[in-house]
Amino acid sequence: MLSLMSVETVTPDTSLNAGPLTLIHEADNAPGWWRSAVIYQVYPRSFRDLNGDGVGDLAGITEELPHLADLGVDAVWLSPFYRSPQRDAGYDVSDYCDVDPIFGTLGDFDVMMAESHRLGLRVIVDLVPNHCSDQHAAFQAALAAPAGSPERDMFIFRDGTGPDGSEPPNNWQSHFGGPAWTRVARPDGQPDQWYLHLFDSSQPDFNWDNPAVHAEFERVLRFWLDRGVSGFRVDVAHALVKAPGLPAWGGRADGGSSEGFPGHEAPMFGQPALHDIYRNWRRILDQYGPDRILCAEANVDPLPRLANWVRPDQMHQAFNFPYLHAGLDVYRLRGVITDSLEALDAVGAPSTWVLSNHDVVRHASRFGYNGQGPRDGDGIGPADPQPDIALGRRRAAAASLFMLGLPGAAYLYQGEELGLPDGVDIPEHLRQDPTFARTGGERLGRDGCRIPLPWRAAETHLGFGHGRDPWLPFPSSFAALARDLQAASPSSHLALYRDILRLRRGLNLGRGSLSWAEDWCTGSSLGYVNGTTLVLMNLNHDPLEMPAGHVLLRSDPSGAGRFLASGETAWLQLGPDAAAD
Ligand code: NOJ
Repeated sequence: MLSLMSVETVTPDTSLNAGPLTLIHEADNAPGWWRSAVIYQVYPRSFRDLNGDGVGDLAGITEELPHLADLGVDAVWLSPFYRSPQRDAGYDVSDYCDVDPIFGTLGDFDVMMAESHRLGLRVIVDLVPNHCSDQHAAFQAALAAPAGSPERDMFIFRDGTGPDGSEPPNNWQSHFGGPAWTRVARPDGQPDQWYLHLFDSSQPDFNWDNPAVHAEFERVLRFWLDRGVSGFRVDVAHALVKAPGLPAWGGRADGGSSEGFPGHEAPMFGQPALHDIYRNWRRILDQYGPDRILCAEANVDPLPRLANWVRPDQMHQAFNFPYLHAGLDVYRLRGVITDSLEALDAVGAPSTWVLSNHDVVRHASRFGYNGQGPRDGDGIGPADPQPDIALGRRRAAAASLFMLGLPGAAYLYQGEELGLPDGVDIPEHLRQDPTFARTGGERLGRDGCRIPLPWRAAETHLGFGHGRDPWLPFPSSFAALARDLQAASPSSHLALYRDILRLRRGLNLGRGSLSWAEDWCTGSSLGYVNGTTLVLMNLNHDPLEMPAGHVLLRSDPSGAGRFLASGETAWLQLGPDAAAD
């Protein structure tokens, strides 16, 4: 019988039954909690609604934090909870140093921090420095002030083009669709200048050529560091600085790709002056000790360019979007993992790994397609081809087990531990992602991955809240996936995540080495050795025969025997006397 073995069976010689190995990455002994941390993304409006208004809140997070400690994560990343008109779910901030009333108060934040620390969880928060809300006091002052004023210089105002200035200053497009410029009017109603917004028109971009903007964000950093946060996830970190002269751009609006600009970024992405901003922020964080971190949400490619962001004097981490986009293509996965570890090792930084977040279709849905799935940010609607959720959840379990065996840090998105799929049947009037309105409904947007969490199957609103309807409706499938039901089942998705995280910690896999196990790297399977653990993933229709070894964990707990089914991953403990039968 195959069994889940404890970690004492570790033996040092991995070459005995794993076949030829190609070493890519040595074990990492450098100090820093974040180098191997598992960080759980909490999306506050959908986590837990304690006050019954239909939207999650900070008190709700505090209430359920013990579940996250029990899951075995090291830290929590909170998406924005700051004062905001919520035109882009809080990524439109009107006051960076206060909590939005829908989420609670600064006092609630402090209570949540204290409870996190009591449970041994660190907290990092989102920082949104590229743009604010059009309701921010600084933007309101800019609107009231004339062209050329210091108030306007906090943002990117320009005169229009064309004979009467009625054309935008350049051809840049918003990520959410439509032009990236909006024209304002003078107090007398006469048309005036245009302001730049790479996202929604309610999100004006700051002018990072202005030292006053730098000073304001230094204040914001210190405000939250003083309140005990362990760092910041920096929103669109690659976009703050724009190329001088704002030259025209013909490439995609929604990515930092160098497409169309060989060897260069687009004029709104990856500009060299960004690095001085992050050097300065790093100096500020370091004044608070070595444990505060910066993580870049920077969609730059290729991977060696991304590595520029995580040098010892800049960011600690960057999200690994190439990994997220590699899907289940074994060649792409091997390439991205190898390139990530090589590029980041060259600058002494750990890699990060991620499969889901609040901007993409959840991986339980994405992996339920055999051909082309939905495009990022587009969501799945009732009229679209539907994923096979059973298949998607099985593959998602395999992919998560595969990812969490890799050395480095990993980011989880709330609900992936339950294997939640995206919501599909969202009535149009409830859709809130600005993408939906800005594209006239052509792109559904990201609401489907933001449905509230199902906590307790038998309670009102599945235990998310006990008052008003949740801000987005639950799909019918969510009741059977509720956390309390999964917590009671040793073969659930949740139980698998808990086992993965316990073993990952016990085996120190986050700090481990990585060698490709060549015999298992075929066109449809992938295998690597981390320390003395062999991780195998089979994506073929034919079962894959496993080598001898004690089976620590497999993603389909109902599977047993010497074969891995399609869409399944196993961890094996290697050793000279190991045997599986
Ligand atoms: C990236 C965030 O993850 C996304 O949700 C947001 O809409 C944009 N940045 C704009 O802030």
